[in-house]
Amino acid sequence: MWLPCRCATKYVVASFRRGVSASFLHVLRRGRSSWNSAAFMPESAGFEGVSGRDALHDYSVSHGESFWDAVARQRLSWIRPFDAVQDCDLSQGRIKWFEGGKLNVSVNCLDRHVHTCPERVALIWERDEQGSEVRYTYRELLEMTCRLGNLLRRHGVKKGDCVTIYMPTCPLAVASMLACARIGAAHNVVFAGFSSEALAERIRDAQSSTVITVNQGVRGGKITELKRTVDAAVQSCPTVRQVFVAMRTEKRVEMTDRDFTLEEEMLKEDVVCEPAAMDSEDVLFLLYTSGSTGKPKGLVHTQAGYLLYAALTHRYVFGYHDGDVFGCVADIGWITGHSYTVYGPLANGGTTVLFESTPVYPDPGRYWDMVERLRINQFYGAPTAIRLLIKYGDQWVKKYDRSSLTTLGSVGEPINTEAWEWYNRVVGEGRCPVVDTWWQTETGGICIAPKPSEPDAEIVPGMAMRPFFGIKPVLMDTEGKLLTSNNTSGALCMALPWPGMARTIHNNHQRFLETYFQPYPGYFFTGDGAYRSQEGYYQITGRLDDVINVSGHRIGTAEIEDVLNQCSAVAESAVIGYSHNIKGQGKYQRVYAFVVLKKGVDIQEADLSKQLNSMVSEKIAKYACPDFIQLAKRLPKTRSGKIMRRVLRKVVDCDLDGLGDLSTLDDPAAVQEIIEGHEKLS
Ligand code: WTA
Repeated sequence: MWLPCRCATKYVVASFRRGVSASFLHVLRRGRSSWNSAAFMPESAGFEGVSGRDALHDYSVSHGESFWDAVARQRLSWIRPFDAVQDCDLSQGRIKWFEGGKLNVSVNCLDRHVHTCPERVALIWERDEQGSEVRYTYRELLEMTCRLGNLLRRHGVKKGDCVTIYMPTCPLAVASMLACARIGAAHNVVFAGFSSEALAERIRDAQSSTVITVNQGVRGGKITELKRTVDAAVQSCPTVRQVFVAMRTEKRVEMTDRDFTLEEEMLKEDVVCEPAAMDSEDVLFLLYTSGSTGKPKGLVHTQAGYLLYAALTHRYVFGYHDGDVFGCVADIGWITGHSYTVYGPLANGGTTVLFESTPVYPDPGRYWDMVERLRINQFYGAPTAIRLLIKYGDQWVKKYDRSSLTTLGSVGEPINTEAWEWYNRVVGEGRCPVVDTWWQTETGGICIAPKPSEPDAEIVPGMAMRPFFGIKPVLMDTEGKLLTSNNTSGALCMALPWPGMARTIHNNHQRFLETYFQPYPGYFFTGDGAYRSQEGYYQITGRLDDVINVSGHRIGTAEIEDVLNQCSAVAESAVIGYSHNIKGQGKYQRVYAFVVLKKGVDIQEADLSKQLNSMVSEKIAKYACPDFIQLAKRLPKTRSGKIMRRVLRKVVDCDLDGLGDLSTLDDPAAVQEIIEGHEKLS
């Protein structure tokens, strides 16, 4: 793997400098007595009469043009300034920001910081092997990115092409993303836990000619054969011309004419690479995520608006200051990794941690050992990991010095009160605000979070609470009417566009319109339900569509059904999210599958379950495997043949009184059988 050449003394000096500036800033921060908009947010200096966080939020939604104009000019470096702040119409699904402007995202993330502080650490690669972290300065990351940009150009990658990146979280993956941005190609990062078929589907849909991968992945002490997965995937991807393979381990893997060793090729390249001047609305990346059909959708994010929104939220939601070390432990294969491991922190000239391991490797103290060793200031993780760590006990946390921590973030699914309190009390010693951040692949960045807030404003456990600047959430009832009062629940929509939102679904604009803009005309529909409290705070209650959130991973029920139905023994299936309620751990979702076998099939349940699980992990990923499989003679259907999922959900939730209107059922006896089958299973 590409390592920075360095001398030991440089690092001693660099870390000493960082230490000084961090503690100095801490004093400054503590010394700040009252909330002053311009001191808090320099971009707001010109906003007349605005004082206080809530007033700034009001201003950002009532004077959106002026707000985003000021912020975009000050926070980003432009090659050419934009002519118009926005041209958006939610009723048409048209979203355009900063048109006429030209910029380069990699220049914003690298070059401008190299000019002011070349030796500042950009990345700390927390390798799987504990205690072997490697630091990369902004200068080194720029050099790596330029070599990669030149390499891609030499191999024919042009502006507008799409490069698929199938790598674990590591510096070369970040440099690959930035190299694409540098030369104007889009990237399509595919989570390295996805199977070859899932990867192939994403490569084909993105029409990539180039794939970047590693020989092997290393995670939790285990080796994964990523290159082999790519080999299997590209067999069904005629567009792929070349595969670049980085060497994460010493192991040599089989190489074909199409394959190149990445590090060897990079050495041939120059360390200067001319950045492409990109239009604000050119594509920056595609990122595939699950929806309610069997086919994952490639959400498209563009250059200026996305980068601005990632940078702004990173700075203000987490209270990130120069000199801080930001530790987001999400994989770069997800939007959280894109926005808060890579783009947000780097656009802000920050130091960001690339976490390659797991929360329990080599033991359950891994996160907190890392916090102590790297002096992490903001830690951003997922409730599923917190719940897991609670089980191992407080001693794994208390063993390590967490005095560097100032903010604890949570993302991906609702954080239950017990987990919230443990995170706050045990991990943060009651000193650090816990920010429960709500957002989605579609939103590009955090939309609702307790911070920023007025100083000492309350934070309610388990609530995302406050919309970010420029965000105007609304709730809708089942008839599509706006719910105006507080203390009410409904479908969560956004009444205003914001720069970070996705622009379309790759190759399927119609689906984009149908999913997000047609359900509530004039609004962006999130797919989530929410509760608004008496005080006007938001709490997310979960998905309203056929998407399940398994430990923070999104998966469409239809995607899993597609795989189950391919099994030769299976006639049909129905998959639903089963909300498990475990004392002390709150509610979380599991995959529950109803399976109807073909006539005459005789198979042991254990064998069937083994077969189905291996098919799902082969065709999608391990996390999508059903936790429960219930065999059924038939599924409850309407007379027109539609599976009544609502009924299945009620049965697994043991809410038989809530089964509702069954008059459209084709054969009511089917429900009784399902109930009996469920009772046997539980
Ligand atoms: C869920 C992840 C409750 C939600 C950034 C959303 C949450 C989906 C929270 C998006 C939260 C995310 N509280 N639910 N703080 N954050 N979600 O696209 O259902 O992988 O729609 O983006 O995760 O998942 P995605």
